[in-house]
Amino acid sequence: MSFPNNFLWGAATASYQIEGAVEGGGRGKSIWDTFSHTPGKVYRGDTGDVACDHFHRLEEDLDLMAELGLGAYRFSVAWPRIQPEGSGAANKAGLDFYRRLVDGLRQRNIEPMPTLYHWDLPQTLEDRGGWTSRETSERFAEYAGIVYEALSDEAEFWITLNEPWVASWLGHEAGVHAPGRKSTNEALLATHHLLLGHGLATERMRSENREGNKLGITLSLSPVRASREKDEDAAKLVDGNVNRLYLDPLLRGEYPKDMVEHYRDVSDFGFVRDGDLEKISSPNDFLGVNFYMRHTVREDASTETASFPSVGARIVIPHNARKTAMGWPAEPDALAEILVRVNEDYGPIPIYITENGIAVHDYAGPDGKVNDIERVEYLDSHFRAAHDAMENGVDVRGYMVWSLLDNFEWAEGYSKRFGLVHVDYPTGKRTPKESFRWYSEVIERNGAEESS
Ligand code: FCB
Repeated sequence: MSFPNNFLWGAATASYQIEGAVEGGGRGKSIWDTFSHTPGKVYRGDTGDVACDHFHRLEEDLDLMAELGLGAYRFSVAWPRIQPEGSGAANKAGLDFYRRLVDGLRQRNIEPMPTLYHWDLPQTLEDRGGWTSRETSERFAEYAGIVYEALSDEAEFWITLNEPWVASWLGHEAGVHAPGRKSTNEALLATHHLLLGHGLATERMRSENREGNKLGITLSLSPVRASREKDEDAAKLVDGNVNRLYLDPLLRGEYPKDMVEHYRDVSDFGFVRDGDLEKISSPNDFLGVNFYMRHTVREDASTETASFPSVGARIVIPHNARKTAMGWPAEPDALAEILVRVNEDYGPIPIYITENGIAVHDYAGPDGKVNDIERVEYLDSHFRAAHDAMENGVDVRGYMVWSLLDNFEWAEGYSKRFGLVHVDYPTGKRTPKESFRWYSEVIERNGAEESS
């Protein structure tokens, strides 16, 4: 198994999950500060106040990336560090932090891959309606313009949004992510305004005319399978909700008809104004795919137990699938399946896998080492699946492992560890795991098999 010469091997993180220093450098409040400080929302009351303290340990973390041999590093920019109140002039200290990060990456020959929005919306914008309000799409484009103007000569790859499905549905319908709203109508509004924000930001960034730069968006995609024959309709609706509701407007310029029909009683999609879909579907240079699992589903009309209440379906774990510490099924062939499908239905389009990884109940042994063999197996099988997809014609150009560091796993707090590097939270001490050594060899050999 060998990958193309310029294949980009990387690792990913996100601002609120690693930075800490929530009041450092004039940062304003985000919806995740509010949410994590609300009792009962995050496991054990964990917050991102300190997280991995990456804000203060930037140099040390950059050195770890260099030691790992990364070709690219995907990080996100915290909007409330740049615009503490969500609009207006840039906060210099905030921009400086990301400038130091990008410079540090360049010095180490690591390609920066910034994501402009990984869920930490300025709280002031939430107070004015957040993503349920169209104004937020406009504010997002303004913010994107500020960051792009400042850093676009140093970073080639730009991602507007991370996983609009999660932000919309877990944040606005299930209420298990910030801002914790519980309304299907609001989840639809958020979906459209996030996508519109992507379109407007892309337009704003393109107007800077940075030739050679590549702009894209990252979606969380999951192939969907019916558990039994009678669950076929439910599976189609889940696919509509998690995949097509985003892929279709972005890559075809229309919302899927079955979804518009399905949500008829909740919304008439009157929030879609003339010209919106043209903006949303303006061409991207690549698609970012975050992959974690296939959804095997059963019909389930109960709002208590449904995993996707708005489409009446529940996730079941196939008997033959291993479960990760998140309780998610590990089925590597599902990665190849979704990549081939996206390429066939929406391609051809260059794809970067912008996240993939596994939570393991890691612990340091008596020798101080973290022997995370499950992570090595998981990554190895998923790299192979990506390679299979490439052999089937999919233009996969890079792979960002989630995550460089153990970090704040949203509603799960610090209880779930995804890192190649173990973080001891009380002291901040970093310990590269066995998977870190293994991955550095994969990068070094460009994926090729070890010669025996
Ligand atoms: C994705 C998120 C990322 C991380 C992984 C495990 O949905 O984008 O921040 O939490 O899941």
